Amino acid sequence: MSSTLVGISPTLVEVPPVVHDLAGRLRPGATVVPVWRNEYGGLTARLEDGAQLVDGAQLEDGADAPGRTTSRAAGRSSYLKWVPHGSACPDPFAEADRLVWASSHAPLPRVLDVGRDRHGSWLLTEAVERDGAIATSAIEPRWRALAKRSAIAVGLGLRRLHDLLPVDTCSFVRTAELRVAALTRSAARTRNAAVTLRGTSLGDPPPVDRLVVCHGDATVPNTLLDRAGRFVAHVDVGDLGVADRWSDIAVTTRSVTRRYGPGLEPLVLAAYGVAPDPVRTRYYRALWDAEEAVRVRRVARRPEPRRPDRGGHLRRVS
Ligand SMILES: Nc1ncnc2c1ncn2[C@@H]1O[C@H](COP(=O)(O)OP(=O)(O)OP(=O)(O)O)[C@@H](O)[C@H]1O
Ligand SMILES: [Mg+2]
Repeated sequence: MSSTLVGISPTLVEVPPVVHDLAGRLRPGATVVPVWRNEYGGLTARLEDGAQLVDGAQLEDGADAPGRTTSRAAGRSSYLKWVPHGSACPDPFAEADRLVWASSHAPLPRVLDVGRDRHGSWLLTEAVERDGAIATSAIEPRWRALAKRSAIAVGLGLRRLHDLLPVDTCSFVRTAELRVAALTRSAARTRNAAVTLRGTSLGDPPPVDRLVVCHGDATVPNTLLDRAGRFVAHVDVGDLGVADRWSDIAVTTRSVTRRYGPGLEPLVLAAYGVAPDPVRTRYYRALWDAEEAVRVRRVARRPEPRRPDRGGHLRRVS
């Protein structure tokens, strides 16, 4: 079974046979290239229909630098996100519903298929392209090497998403109140005193600054850039919904610091077009962390033995 180096700190990942079988059913004959493994056992693979594709991730760092035109041909590729049953990942069906609505308003991938079988659930999306090349995650080393530019692109992209998605017709809601209520229910179910404490110690949410349709996981890895490092689209919208814009901004700025290094938050905020708001930033980061603690707890309680190809169950680092 094929193995490939995946992710920002490349790890050898073996594509499970069930994912190969699924890919064969959805895209007969396509080459399966793993591109991302999340901390909950979920795997995303690019399904390459065309033999001409070159995987930029396998080139030496910098070989796929901005301005180069030959590194990555788009072909007819798609992305298969596979989530095993019991995973703490958002349900692919929830993501598909959000994509179907949101992709008619903002740059997000088109849904090709969504489904479930006895092994897990999946979402198949069309590869996002720009100028004949597949857009790549802002987490890639070449974008980290251009940290200032990339931070600005991430901030501009978030503002674009918030400006384009219409609150009035969005049926997905993810306010702080709803999230705290869900968190409290989860904490009670898992009888996790630490999580309960974190959930309740959040206090009341700050007053809403501006209601927008938020991405829900607006991080660097979920932002796609073109060959020149410009924002193209977002992915991973399973938690998209109407909320205060700071629930996204707080996560985005922290993700930029974690992924690219310190000192860049002012650039992200300036690109977005907003002044710093320490109170809302602190609140929404704490809320995100409390939810993460519940997800980590769920992963730790999963009954299946850990697979050697999944590595440790790390905290998700935004
Ligand atoms: N349609 C697409 N076009 C281009 N790239 C894509 C597409 N879908 C997914 N990707 C790539 O695959 C990666 C993983 O996809 P996604 O973020 O949906 O997975 P995930 O497991 O939910 O991630 P996370 O670890 O953030 O939970 C993305 O960061 C992006 O680089
Ligand atoms: Mg993601």
